[in-house]
Amino acid sequence: MKVAIIGGGAIGLLVGAYLGRSHEVHMYVRRTEQKEALETAGITCQTLEEPTPVHAHLISEKTDACDLVIVAVKQHQVERVVKEQLTTGAPVLFLQNGMGHLEYLYQEKLHYIGVVDHGALKVSDNAVEHLGQGMIQAARYGEEGDCPNFLSSLHEQDFPVYYRNSYKGMMVSKLIVNTVINPLTALFEVKNHALVDNPHIQKIGRRLCVEACRTMELAFEKEWERVLHVAGITGENESSMFKDMKEGRLTEIDAICGYIIRQSKEPLPYHEFVIEAVHAKERREV
Ligand code: PAF
Repeated sequence: MKVAIIGGGAIGLLVGAYLGRSHEVHMYVRRTEQKEALETAGITCQTLEEPTPVHAHLISEKTDACDLVIVAVKQHQVERVVKEQLTTGAPVLFLQNGMGHLEYLYQEKLHYIGVVDHGALKVSDNAVEHLGQGMIQAARYGEEGDCPNFLSSLHEQDFPVYYRNSYKGMMVSKLIVNTVINPLTALFEVKNHALVDNPHIQKIGRRLCVEACRTMELAFEKEWERVLHVAGITGENESSMFKDMKEGRLTEIDAICGYIIRQSKEPLPYHEFVIEAVHAKERREV
């Protein structure tokens, strides 16, 4: 398949490195230097034996004539990508944290939502470290149906991609993972395994998980187990929010913890605290 990947951050590079082994991958990135690095040397990933060759373009170019578009930009860039760049009728798979981007997607188009629980760290314009093997789960945004061919052909033993019937359950579970792991790792400047092995951070994480499960009407024990599982398998990873904060970028706190608050009819003190604390720290870092 000819696959266009929009976004050259950690997830874009990780997906490009794995999929580029069996598909023709075209990376769309913002900076000329990154485009050149990708074109010249491909994508290096420490878990793969050799660099994966890819084609590279600037994000301003249109993604025409491809079989699948994967959008791996941050939440706040999704609206622009949907309005300006998705001009083909090809299916589109969106790989964002949180649920804020759903408002820019169309149920009547071939829009798919994916949730990623791999740990990934961008180490340079064309190198990524795979810090925790997870999976990608994907579902159609809108009506349920059979697994489309393009999704089955992305699946590899060492890079699993699974189709789910309903996007809601899948996204909400990932939202719970992010609403616990991301703000705490960003605020305490720790890797994900702190949720497993620091009892104090774990205690706050539990409170966040209780609030989120009550709001989203989910069973706490099952979701808490999943949070700890993901924190464990991505233990060596710095969460995307921790990385955004370190690099002076805006975080996705409003699309993650803010989304939970907006769904709740009652006060959520732990969520309110982490939102304000992350914003305070974002300002400090700028
Ligand atoms: O946002 C992230 O960093 C990731 O979604 C996850 C799964 C928490 C791993 O770090």
